[in-house]
Amino acid sequence: MAGPMLSVEVRTALEKLDQRDLLAHFDALPKAPRSRLKAELEGLDWGQIEQVRKLLLAAPSAAEAARLEPAPSKKKGAVSDDDARAKRRGLELLEAGRVAVFVVAGGQGSRLGYEGPKGCFPASPVVGRTLFEIFAAKIRALRERHATPLPWYVMTSAGNHAQTVAYFEEKEFFGLPKEDVSLFPQDMLPAMSPEGRILLAAEDRLFLSPNGHGGALWALRTSGALEDMRARGVEEIFYFQVDNPLVAMADPVFVGHHALEHAQMSVKVVAKRSADEKVGVVGRIDGRFGVIEYSDLSPEDLEARDESGQLRFRDGNIAVHMLRRDFVESITEGGLSLPFHLARKKIQAFDPESKTSCALDGVKFETFVFDAMGRADRCVVLEVDRDREFAPIKNAEGEDSPESSQRAQTELFASWLEAAGVAVPRDAGGRANCLLDIDPAWADSLDALRDRLSQQSRLDIPAGGECILP
Ligand code: UD1
Repeated sequence: MAGPMLSVEVRTALEKLDQRDLLAHFDALPKAPRSRLKAELEGLDWGQIEQVRKLLLAAPSAAEAARLEPAPSKKKGAVSDDDARAKRRGLELLEAGRVAVFVVAGGQGSRLGYEGPKGCFPASPVVGRTLFEIFAAKIRALRERHATPLPWYVMTSAGNHAQTVAYFEEKEFFGLPKEDVSLFPQDMLPAMSPEGRILLAAEDRLFLSPNGHGGALWALRTSGALEDMRARGVEEIFYFQVDNPLVAMADPVFVGHHALEHAQMSVKVVAKRSADEKVGVVGRIDGRFGVIEYSDLSPEDLEARDESGQLRFRDGNIAVHMLRRDFVESITEGGLSLPFHLARKKIQAFDPESKTSCALDGVKFETFVFDAMGRADRCVVLEVDRDREFAPIKNAEGEDSPESSQRAQTELFASWLEAAGVAVPRDAGGRANCLLDIDPAWADSLDALRDRLSQQSRLDIPAGGECILP
């Protein structure tokens, strides 16, 4: 049947990877669906696909269990001489334009059940400022205070890239200069059957998913973002996830600790709430830094306590990192060199033979950015206060939901207001009995709020009411 031909490279890759069924299906398709499938196939990184297929088909090795240990030394994000020195260094780097911020927003947000890019989710308590608006406001506050360009890189994925770009354009880049904001998508990978057959989602579509947040490092290179950073003189990258409105943007204390230690990659942690809180913990895996998944710790290790009675593995990963630009350059030289993790699940796939959609055994492939810590010789682990820096929105309800995050945001704003001398109504249990929302562009910290309030007349917050500042 006449129709668009596949490029020689892709046809050869498909033949080499034993995808004869897919090729036969492609060749039999009518013109229009065939063009659509061709565009998808030609947009993929076949080097990565070869790598994951090899991994999938490799005989399972009787690998010895990894040696897991807690993180050896840790810094506390408290106020100390050490912190003051770090803060000075961090501010120097910010003011010299050496720092960029980078958010990963390529995930599918399926747990939250929100249609659309997660960054467009209304996250703040009263105004309903979206996650992207909150981040942009924090960036604006820093740009103004430190006269720094603080370029912002946003990683999306094929499923949400166009919508994210449209949103940024509609909001006129939230008042940021367009040339200081870059959006680019990460790579997608097809799911496979356990035997390594590439799966389809429909006759003209592959079953694709983003290649994990580890793909962020590769996307920094392939999008030209690393080049752009180099040209701007950026040396350090502040990395965070799209789901956390409380992120302490480009926190100078963190930037400074990381730089003073000559670390290549660093991470922030919070104390786990309980032994069974399902977060990854930062620790050592066979002597190298890494994040130990909840499911990889034995019940004994999960409960183990040290001499002081604290959990032995307690350093919950909040997925906030510092990365040296040259470290990202070196570990992406010649390809995305992070290990792939396999997720086996039922996949609603299109069967080209019966021409129907059915639930098949499938495998998805992801890389994790924190695996890059294992490649770093130096890594700072900075423990911070959960109440001030971590209130992610992941689930529709319960823990880590919009409601729990808005409560945490209100509590933080309440603590700032009280420290600045404003009375906040509280209920018998000590919780703020009101909803508070502060525009981060107006005040992004207690110090900034104090400055603003000194210029403002009395503030009355009614019990059970709402207060929006400014
Ligand atoms: C993640 C960490 C966990 C940590 C927690 C803190 C993993 C495997 N675990 O869990 O150790 O304690 O965050 O909040 O990551 N993303 C992409 N592209 C992708 C996949 C994800 O950009 O291909 C982005 C998402 O948009 C999101 C972030 O990465 O911003 C986190 O992804 P998610 O899969 O939700 O991780 P968690 O399970 O929440």
